[in-house]
Amino acid sequence: MPENKPNLPLDKNASSIQAMFADIAPRYDLLNHLLSMNVDRYWRWRTTHLVPPNPSGMHLDVCTGTGDLALAYHRAGKGALRVVATDFCAPMVKRGHEKAAGKLPFLVADTMRLPFPTNMFQTVTVAFGLRNVSNTLAGLREMARVCRPGGTVAVLEFTTPQMWPLRPFYLWYFRTILPLIGRWVSGSSDFAYSYLPASVATFPEREALAAIFNEAGLTSTTWRSLTFGIATLYWGRKPTDQSLEQQP
Ligand SMILES: C[S@@+](CC[C@H](N)C(=O)[O-])C[C@H]1O[C@@H](n2cnc3c(N)ncnc32)[C@H](O)[C@@H]1O
Repeated sequence: MPENKPNLPLDKNASSIQAMFADIAPRYDLLNHLLSMNVDRYWRWRTTHLVPPNPSGMHLDVCTGTGDLALAYHRAGKGALRVVATDFCAPMVKRGHEKAAGKLPFLVADTMRLPFPTNMFQTVTVAFGLRNVSNTLAGLREMARVCRPGGTVAVLEFTTPQMWPLRPFYLWYFRTILPLIGRWVSGSSDFAYSYLPASVATFPEREALAAIFNEAGLTSTTWRSLTFGIATLYWGRKPTDQSLEQQP
């Protein structure tokens, strides 16, 4: 088994995930920026350049949390893009709604059962969220379902850098230092920041996630490593000759 793929038991039960994010919601943004040394802002900005806003249709950001990627698309769209943000954790959605100050709608919704008709959005994105959805393929299929034929589905996610000497340093930071800082700043959630390294370690990366894109019916899937492979942006296109409605 590869060094970064331990067989860890992970509780991705919806109510556990909701409770975990509800617990850290008040300090989520602070923790995010602190633990990533603010690089997370760059990753979201870069996402809006690699998968640019397309004002010919609406944009959906799922597992939006406090809405940073949705807001990045709103800024990138310069007022011409209609962005909708969804997440199933109400306290995260509440903070996103407050931050957005009416610029875009936030809805409480499960990514496994999005409350939208098929083929509604031009672009559907998720940042650091698909990893937490209990069934990766089902989540991606649901994102693809609500995407228009010819539209794009994009996933920004952590990956483990391959390059020496960054890789051993990263693994040490991610497994040892990050949970300590997470526990200290959040004041509570051991689970959230021990869960984070464990969930990254067991989530499919690069070719493996691209294969799941294909299984979800998306085509022309590609990915780009960001910051030496600490994060990766994947994106694929929904084919124009099918709506994915018929898929099991
Ligand atoms: C690590 S946060 C990412 C938030 C945000 N996208 C960002 O970039 O900071 C993961 C989010 O996914 C949400 N989430 C996990 N599973 C979900 C599901 N099945 N449906 C909707 N939201 C989900 C959690 O509530 C949490 O807000």
